[in-house]
Amino acid sequence: MKKILLTGASGQVGWELRRALAPLGQVIAPNSRELDLANPDTIRRVLRDVRPHLIVNPAAYTAVDRAEDEVDLAMAINGTAPGVLAEEARRMHAALVHFSTDYVFDGSKPGSYRETDPTNPLGSYGRSKLAGEEAIRAVDVPHLILRTSWVYGVRGKNFMRTILRLAGERDALSVVDDQVGAPTWSRMIAEATALTIARWCPMSNNQAPLAELCGTYHLTNVGQVSWHGVACAILEEYEAVREYRNWPRLMLTPQAIQPITTAEYPTPAKRPANSVLDNGKLARAFGVEMPEWREGLRMVVDEMATL
Ligand SMILES: NC(=O)c1ccc[n+]([C@@H]2O[C@H](COP(=O)([O-])OP(=O)(O)OC[C@H]3O[C@@H](n4cnc5c(N)ncnc54)[C@H](OP(=O)(O)O)[C@@H]3O)[C@@H](O)[C@H]2O)c1
Repeated sequence: MKKILLTGASGQVGWELRRALAPLGQVIAPNSRELDLANPDTIRRVLRDVRPHLIVNPAAYTAVDRAEDEVDLAMAINGTAPGVLAEEARRMHAALVHFSTDYVFDGSKPGSYRETDPTNPLGSYGRSKLAGEEAIRAVDVPHLILRTSWVYGVRGKNFMRTILRLAGERDALSVVDDQVGAPTWSRMIAEATALTIARWCPMSNNQAPLAELCGTYHLTNVGQVSWHGVACAILEEYEAVREYRNWPRLMLTPQAIQPITTAEYPTPAKRPANSVLDNGKLARAFGVEMPEWREGLRMVVDEMATL
């Protein structure tokens, strides 16, 4: 059985990947104390010990605003570590799957972003993630870089959980309406990643990853919406199942969510106004088509009932 080394298994995407990758091989998932990506020596030691066939790296420094102050730490984890993973993968003839972000773009493009569009990150987090992509590309190793956006799920710190918490506490809220993107469910990222890997490098035999499919891909749920639109949709989906699930009524209604501009909600890190990524390349290469963002949201809200 092939060995898959998975980082970040406590995170939103890593948690789901640990489950989605299980049918493809033996998943070994050290935590951030056992495998600290801020420490290149530790990375080398753990990898040489495990000797995986495939490394999957969803771990990242994801505190976008804090990264403006912790520039070096964000760069070490997001920028330097992926290069070390790539070098080690090359040494042991392993393949690497890495995750990146819409924040490598500045958001000024009128339409959805393709993989070939020029990057221009607006903040420290985006710069560190772009450095990670470039560090991998600089190493001659079979790799996939999967850029995703606006990740959420039933676990972890994310916009959906924040909105539901606030909706239980207050009856008015202002949410930014001039940034658009595609909210993407962590489970759909993980399942699409597992499908992609299965087609890219079949784990049941010794076949190497298909060289012509290596590269960078966008992997998000489909469609686009503003943060204000997502907030309203979250409450609508909650309300749609509230009665038959016997859930409490929320204090906040969609009508009471006020749309505001980014300028009215200043944050330490600048964010792209347009985060929409075009998934066409992934669909053409691997036949993996992602559902609409709203469908994912509906399923997540429904799943909360079982928790
Ligand atoms: N969240 C989003 O909206 C979003 C959007 C676009 C792209 N992405 C990208 O998607 C990927 C997955 O994001 P996510 O939302 O699943 O992240 P997340 O929930 O914040 O999880 C981050 C993971 O990274 C681990 N980690 C942090 N520092 C580490 C270190 N020094 N050494 C080893 N592991 C460390 C964390 O471990 P601990 O729990 O032990 O700290 C955690 O398991 C990342 O590459 C991210 O850049 C995310």
